[in-house]
Amino acid sequence: MSPPTPGPGPGPGPGPGPARPTLPPFRLEVYFSRWEFTARHHLTASDAQTMTISQLLALGTDDERAAFDELPLGYVETWGTPRLREAIAASYDTLEPDDVLTFAGADEALYWMLQVFAGPGDHVVVTVPNYQAIETLPLAAGARVTGVLLDERDGWRLDLDAVRAALRPRTRLVVVNFPNNPTGALPDRATWLALVELCQERGVRLFSDEVYRGLELDPARTLPQAADLAPSAVSLNVLSKAYGLPGLRVGWLATRDRDLLRTLEGHKHYTTICNAGPSEFLGAIAVRERERVWARNRAIIADNLPRFDAFFARHAGRFEWAPPQGGCVAFPRYLGADGVEAFCRDLVETEGVLLLPAGIYTSQLATVPGDRFRIGVGRRDPGPALAAMDRFVAARPAG
Ligand SMILES: Cc1ncc(COP(=O)(O)O)c(C=O)c1O
Repeated sequence: MSPPTPGPGPGPGPGPGPARPTLPPFRLEVYFSRWEFTARHHLTASDAQTMTISQLLALGTDDERAAFDELPLGYVETWGTPRLREAIAASYDTLEPDDVLTFAGADEALYWMLQVFAGPGDHVVVTVPNYQAIETLPLAAGARVTGVLLDERDGWRLDLDAVRAALRPRTRLVVVNFPNNPTGALPDRATWLALVELCQERGVRLFSDEVYRGLELDPARTLPQAADLAPSAVSLNVLSKAYGLPGLRVGWLATRDRDLLRTLEGHKHYTTICNAGPSEFLGAIAVRERERVWARNRAIIADNLPRFDAFFARHAGRFEWAPPQGGCVAFPRYLGADGVEAFCRDLVETEGVLLLPAGIYTSQLATVPGDRFRIGVGRRDPGPALAAMDRFVAARPAG
């Protein structure tokens, strides 16, 4: 018997080598990849009720409907189409279309902004709890990052003294997100203006994630946008959340600092080059018609909230609840002895109701209360999900 022929074996080169450490897992997305499209009830959605293409086109003009049917599927401008940038600029008090750069969702904008403007030697301040990217990206880029914990005992209040104390000579960015995901917190106007002033005084750029703006419980509390308030401030927005159009994947940065936008445009050449043309076309209609879109979504939330209030009132011994001041997510407390991680796991496994337990919001920068979970109030008809939760809670005594 002849000996087995040896395989080709490794060649003379260095071989594929080990994977280089890159970004840590995005906990929320990892959890969602398991459950978002398999759980029966998505009761932790971060976006408002979506629309169909024809519902959105119905907000447009006859000419726009005809033009959409004939839209060529070529590349569009890296900066964003002129129509979309004009509509976005008009949604600010002081901006021109050249003050806007579009991205594929808010995530691409966050990625480049925090890669390019936070690195070794830089210091960044971010609020906690947060959307994980705003702390993971600067940490991964080699920046030093300080977390400012929103005050849970006071409606998740932003403590300006804590922000002031966190600033250092090398602080380049203060990153905030209001209305806040996951807490639903919204500062009052005086605090917001004082934050802008503090950043200006200290020569620090304010980077403001405003993706929930438009969904305030009381529209009178809608805050002015950061980019309108300070020349170096950068506003981040997207059509995913308050607009309820995440499938368009259209986000943007807005700022009067055009050098910053030019730098980021150069980086966008390496990732998406441009957004999807049909998305930017539809997005321009949504932004122009924003008051109607937001009013529709606020009405859905207003219709839902009494059902959530009633659910939490029925189970007052088990939960502590406060509705969001803005946006469509809240962060109630779970009081059961089994703990919130087991509660959320068993709930999705037995009744198919998806919530996000506190562990998803663990921060490297500050201690996020471990007994909370994120719940979404922006999707139409939460009744079946709340009924399933009723059944689940009734079947499990508090212990
Ligand atoms: C506060 C916040 N910012 C940014 C994003 C990213 O938005 P998008 O998924 O549309 O890119 C999210 C998504 O959940 C978010 O909650």
